[in-house]
Amino acid sequence: MCDHCGCREYPPIAELSADHVEILALAEDLATATRLRTPIDAAGRDRLRSLLEVHAAKEEVGLYPLLIAQMGEHADTYSHLEEEHRDIARAIGAGCFEHHAFYALQRHIEEEEEILFSSALFWFDGDTWDDLEAVHRGLVSSPTDVG
Ligand SMILES: [Fe+2]
Ligand SMILES: [Fe+2]
Repeated sequence: MCDHCGCREYPPIAELSADHVEILALAEDLATATRLRTPIDAAGRDRLRSLLEVHAAKEEVGLYPLLIAQMGEHADTYSHLEEEHRDIARAIGAGCFEHHAFYALQRHIEEEEEILFSSALFWFDGDTWDDLEAVHRGLVSSPTDVG
């Protein structure tokens, strides 16, 4: 986590970080229930699915393309992360969210927090932060519009 670098002072990054904390907590419960073969908390799993859907959209519509634009990167720079979003959602939907899926999720989040968030802090200006904020607000107020 990047408590030391100040990125949590930027509301959109603080919001993505808070999503990560909740996603990891819910996913850990699901992975534990899967491993122990105990009944899955269906409400927790449903909350995780909807949270992941909106969170992935925030990143795919906001953070990733804004980083690509600001840094002049290739359009497919973060396509592996988008593919991982699909893999995580598939594993949860299929009811086979085991410990290796949880570790993959942890690694995904670590890459975002350590590499992408620090890049955003370095490259984003006031307009970019406003754009990212607008993407987040649009998605949170109308999550059913997310494709
Ligand atoms: Fe992500
Ligand atoms: Fe994320």
